[in-house]
Amino acid sequence: MTSGGDSPGMNAAIRSVVRTCAFHNIECVGIYRGYEGMIEGDFKSMDARSVKGIINKGGTVLKSARSKIFRTPEGRQQAYHKLKEANIDALVTIGGDGTFTGALVFNQEFDFPVIGIPGTIDNDIFGTTHTLGYDTALNTVVEVIDKIRDTASSHNRLFFIEVMGRDAGHIALNVGVGAGAEEILIPEENLGLDRLLESLRRSKRSGKSSSIVVVAEGDKIGKSVFELKDYVEEHMAEYEVRVSVLGHMQRGGAPSCFDRVLASRMGVKAVESLLDDKTNLMVGLVNDKIALTPLDKAVKGKSVINMELLRVSDIMST
Ligand code: F6P
Repeated sequence: MTSGGDSPGMNAAIRSVVRTCAFHNIECVGIYRGYEGMIEGDFKSMDARSVKGIINKGGTVLKSARSKIFRTPEGRQQAYHKLKEANIDALVTIGGDGTFTGALVFNQEFDFPVIGIPGTIDNDIFGTTHTLGYDTALNTVVEVIDKIRDTASSHNRLFFIEVMGRDAGHIALNVGVGAGAEEILIPEENLGLDRLLESLRRSKRSGKSSSIVVVAEGDKIGKSVFELKDYVEEHMAEYEVRVSVLGHMQRGGAPSCFDRVLASRMGVKAVESLLDDKTNLMVGLVNDKIALTPLDKAVKGKSVINMELLRVSDIMST
């Protein structure tokens, strides 16, 4: 099952789970539209050939949803009933923290074995250095910022570019460094408007004619990219400012090789962990090894931002 926001690499993970089941002679059933489909019994039997040609596809062939009914005891009871009716006795769920929270409650109520695979471009899950889709999103965003930079430098403009991440600055921080941004605004740290102005003044003085500022959706300054534009124009009339909100294009596209390999490794581990009677765990990548983390820790723990990157960015924008 895939649930929550889709991310590149989810299909590669579905393929891996299905093929690992086939390898071990276990029947595998795909659940459509996340918990919504579970409640409605929207299931389809999947064999090794049913997942051909999807490793390179973005999105999720099983579709995804954010279910409100699954948050109710009645919804979960109905989901359990549908799973039992279909002789399903363990669940691999691919998604983010909302998905895992649902899986935990479900396990507590019905003692149903669950293993999670982290799939979200935000990379905001504790217990893994990389979630599925994060690497692809970084590459997509860097490519787009490179293109925007062409216009920024041709017209001597300042661009505020909003990237996804309502609670986490992983994407902003990495693409900011990777695309050579002047400043990076993230949800974890309030760098302040004064510092932003000071940095832009410094870059003007040092002879830069254009600049890129990367802003995470949920940045701590608390201003939208449009408000930031107004603020800078008000205080620094010398800048011609433009805004670009990248939006959902960041979540689409073919997964990178890294995400495909990670998804394949995670799927194998998820199925084989269930075969070993393990439950309530999330498969993650830790020190480049596949590792298991208790699902409740994955949900409650905080994925830590790499603060060193902020310093690197400061030095690079000298
Ligand atoms: O969690 C992934 C994410 O893409 C966030 O970065 C973003 O804030 C959110 O999903 C958008 O959600 P939706 O697609 O429901 O608008």
